[in-house]
Amino acid sequence: MFETDTQRGGQFKIHWEDFYLDFSKNHLSSETCELLSQLAQECELPTAIKQYFEGQRINVTENRAVLHTALRADKSKSVLFDNENVVPEVHNVLEKIDQFCLSVISGDAKGATGKTFTDVVNIGIGGSDLGPVMVTEALEHYRNHLGLHFISNVDGDHVQEILKKVNPETTLFVVVSKSFTTQETLANATTAKKWLTDVLGEKAVAAHFVAVSTNLSMINTFGIDPDNVFPMNDWVGGRFSLWSAVGLTIALGIGPKNFRSLLEGAQKMDDHFAQTPLSENIPVVLALITIWYNNFYGAESEAIIPYTQYLHRLPAYLQQGIMESNGKSIDRNGKPVDYQTGNLIWGEPGTNAQHAFFQLIHQGTKTIPAHFIGFKKSLFGNDDHHQKLMANFFAQTEALMQGKSETAVRQEGVNENLVPFKVFEGNNPTTTLLIDKLNPESLGKLIAMYEHKIFVEGIVWNIYSYDQWGVELGKQLANTILEELQNNSKGQHDSSTNGLLRHFNAG
Ligand code: F6P
Repeated sequence: MFETDTQRGGQFKIHWEDFYLDFSKNHLSSETCELLSQLAQECELPTAIKQYFEGQRINVTENRAVLHTALRADKSKSVLFDNENVVPEVHNVLEKIDQFCLSVISGDAKGATGKTFTDVVNIGIGGSDLGPVMVTEALEHYRNHLGLHFISNVDGDHVQEILKKVNPETTLFVVVSKSFTTQETLANATTAKKWLTDVLGEKAVAAHFVAVSTNLSMINTFGIDPDNVFPMNDWVGGRFSLWSAVGLTIALGIGPKNFRSLLEGAQKMDDHFAQTPLSENIPVVLALITIWYNNFYGAESEAIIPYTQYLHRLPAYLQQGIMESNGKSIDRNGKPVDYQTGNLIWGEPGTNAQHAFFQLIHQGTKTIPAHFIGFKKSLFGNDDHHQKLMANFFAQTEALMQGKSETAVRQEGVNENLVPFKVFEGNNPTTTLLIDKLNPESLGKLIAMYEHKIFVEGIVWNIYSYDQWGVELGKQLANTILEELQNNSKGQHDSSTNGLLRHFNAG
């Protein structure tokens, strides 16, 4: 297509604010784009977008609205949920976050022995962990003096490795759990509380523990002071919640002003998504490209390759966002789908990825559409390194597309029996997002872009993107087995599980 149309690069691109999206290196003609837009229209995407932003209960299977967009709405806006404007309450919580963070960062807030806080330990899992981890890593350049730590896994070794790094007198624990019933988080918070009170006594909990949740009564039972609770609403899904009080650790680490910029970036992407025609709408175009490969090319996965070390947790964060949302096989009528839905998400930062799994993308047998995300400027301004990094960024998408023909290999004088091994078929699809600079605002835009992409895919695939029933069965069975392990009793299992349990119990 590039050979027959030299202007192609300029045609399949969207330049919006500091985002330059080039989707020309995909197997798309203008007609394909037109037909995909028609598909979205047929699926009534514009109406669905309206319902999403208006706070209708589009999470039907949980009878909830999906209003993470309200969390970054400007104070002047009104978002009605059950006839009530939720924006004032969102801003009340944001102001509470501002004040609390400023007092911790400035040193006004003190621990039980009168010392200022040096470290923050975030205890949460899934959406109560991945968003805060990803964002605080991504914005490390904007971080203050507070040391940030994350405990998520119920693995006690993980907990101890974190606790051994911090001092009880100067550590603040942020327990984040939307439900406040998650086994991992409650176990980890209980261990951390014991570790603290063993040294500082029961009274220290009030100064050293804060919580973020919708479940205020469970927090009370756990023993956290009601003044130290940051509420969230049940219309925010865990994997979309970093904009709410779930982002408390983010606001502590980068300061409330930067946290607000993150929200503003997301808000700008919300406006772009809600107001731009489908063909120029970044999340819509990206979602339609995913659908194109997923449903028409049989592609199983999509790689996310950020060309900045700061975004090294972005693929893991998007794995939850995308796979927990769109990993569904039942449609909105309760019937099994007879087409593919959510794809596998994976990735690592370039250039490391090039030296690890790029071989398979270049010469393997699978179609792996990839997102390349890069920045025009580096944060420390080291041009020499940045040019090297970005040269790889541009070269890889070019190489994946152009490949290398037999003739080109022969012209290099390669030994004839090695020729087939050195040929690159090319035509591997990539989409490139070049952003001016990584900062809180551009990161907010980037995350919101993927959130809306998830939404569009769910509409076209006719599935419910906002529940996650698929994670429940494993949780139930784990509780049954835990009881057996604790009581040393034998339950009813298959022969494989029985054998494994016998081997485990044999010590
Ligand atoms: O098990 C999946 C899940 O429900 C995620 O959707 C959620 O982000 C995570 O668990 C943590 O849940 P909570 O914030 O309620 O502890």
